[in-house]
Amino acid sequence: MKVLVTGGAGYVGSVCAAHLIEAGHEVTVLDDLSTGHRDAVPDGAAFVEGRVQDVAAKVLAGAGYEAVLHFAASSLVGESVHVPEKYWDNNVGGAIALLAAMREAGVGRLVFSSTAATYGEPESSPIVEDAPARPTNPYGASKLAVDHMITSEATAHGLAAVSLRYFNVAGAYGRYGERHTTETHLIPLVLQAAAGRRDSVSIFGDDYPTPDGTCVRDYIHVADLAEAHLLALTGAQPGRHLVCNLGNGAGFSVKEVIETVRRVTGREFTAVTAPRRAGDPAVLVASSERARRELGWTPTRTDLDRIVADAWAFAQNGTA
Ligand code: UFG
Repeated sequence: MKVLVTGGAGYVGSVCAAHLIEAGHEVTVLDDLSTGHRDAVPDGAAFVEGRVQDVAAKVLAGAGYEAVLHFAASSLVGESVHVPEKYWDNNVGGAIALLAAMREAGVGRLVFSSTAATYGEPESSPIVEDAPARPTNPYGASKLAVDHMITSEATAHGLAAVSLRYFNVAGAYGRYGERHTTETHLIPLVLQAAAGRRDSVSIFGDDYPTPDGTCVRDYIHVADLAEAHLLALTGAQPGRHLVCNLGNGAGFSVKEVIETVRRVTGREFTAVTAPRRAGDPAVLVASSERARRELGWTPTRTDLDRIVADAWAFAQNGTA
């Protein structure tokens, strides 16, 4: 297929673009490089620099694209609380422009990068897709708004669409990995401490109602995530908007992640307990039954040691 990948210079977008190329698809990456990296655009992909709002219509018009994978978005939960307008503009504004451009150009297939943050504080675990969606921050709210837009687009105009709600993405694939200027995610921060690039790592709260008092998350390997995107791309059905969680269904606490990093890297470093981070739910674990059933997805890199080892290899050598 001829596919446009928005945000394909970012972490998840670049891994997915690389998988698409390996599977024989024709890929164009559209990215404004606000957080992505030009050198993360996979070899073999065409590249257009720009914002979705500004250039998607021009790129898609009359160019024969069959599908879009939409990753381009702002994705920092904390920032979204302080600068919500950026999230409504980039995430919702970008999606409005993209859907209009797709409609105009007759591109009928979409895979959207959604998030567990659409659920907010869950009532039960593991989280199923029918659970109440009550986001606790503007980031999650903006992604949920786009999910609603896509549902109505599928109903009204026959779009074939899949939204994939990621839990905690980690690991690396070949030369594609996590390189955020502002790093907020646990595994890369702990790896920085292991590498001696930061003095210590903070544990945000050890008084949660979990077995060891620290927050529990569902870590998923970025390459397993990418494989789900390929299945969603080919499996999307006209007039239907399928929403699927992507996680492994197993939770690991912050302390367990830190212990895993110590074991995998063989490095010692300091972890200090710090106050809770605002808006962190105690436990976020996915039920991915729907993705397995509807997409035929089977993650193969579910072991946390493997996920951490790949992230460590990338952090050390630039390749996993
Ligand atoms: N944490 C620490 N210390 C750190 C960084 C994180 O203890 O230095 C903790 C957090 O408090 C949290 C866990 O590690 O309990 C994981 O935090 P991350 O920031 O790595 O990931 P989140 O679970 O906060 O966020 C992820 C995605 C978001 C998405 C969210 C869904 O990165 O995009 O899940 O709620 F919105």
